[in-house]
Amino acid sequence: MLFVKSDEPMTQASDRWEKLRQEILVCQRCPLAQSRTQAVPGVGPPTARLVIIGEAPGYREDVQGEPFVGSAGKLLTKLLEQAGIKRESVFITNVVKCRPPENRQPTQSERKSCHSYLIRQLEHIQPKVIALVGRVPTETLLETRGSMGALHGKSFERNGRTFFVMYHPAAGLYNQTLVPIMEEDMRKLKKLLEKTADSGDQQEEGQLPLSDFFSNQKK
Ligand code: URA
Repeated sequence: MLFVKSDEPMTQASDRWEKLRQEILVCQRCPLAQSRTQAVPGVGPPTARLVIIGEAPGYREDVQGEPFVGSAGKLLTKLLEQAGIKRESVFITNVVKCRPPENRQPTQSERKSCHSYLIRQLEHIQPKVIALVGRVPTETLLETRGSMGALHGKSFERNGRTFFVMYHPAAGLYNQTLVPIMEEDMRKLKKLLEKTADSGDQQEEGQLPLSDFFSNQKK
């Protein structure tokens, strides 16, 4: 029988994954449920080595039901491909799964409502590297308040997990001079992924499950 990461049979794991996706699709936890066209759980393999986390769906994402398909998404795809990372090999999602009206930043309360979905996704995937694009995912997952100028291109170890901070691709659309920096950061991310290529999939000794780690962090 095929097993995923731990000793869980494959069918059970994919049922759990699909159940989570369905829960997100019908979520009514916050007022964004009223204004969205559809929720956007994320796209990519549930066994991805790399997870990319953005802020929240925008107009295009809300219409298509897929993250990063608008102009920022096109730049993200280009940066990935240039660095030799296939977009289809990455699981891409957002801190908040529904579009905030007028693309405003998601509120703390909206982020909180969605938090357990993100943690369950990460818990299921057990990625080698978690890339945080922009301020919202960086603040949410690292609880770090530095400027993006200071944090981008850096990796952080938290509870034995590797996080990598990047500019949000929309920043490169507004300010073209950031694009070469973003290209360089993507190459760093590729190297980081390669570095983790040979390490096993087992949870490290003393490492808390993500759900426990983040609930401790919030206290
Ligand atoms: N910006 C994000 O942060 N996420 C998307 O999915 C699209 C644009």
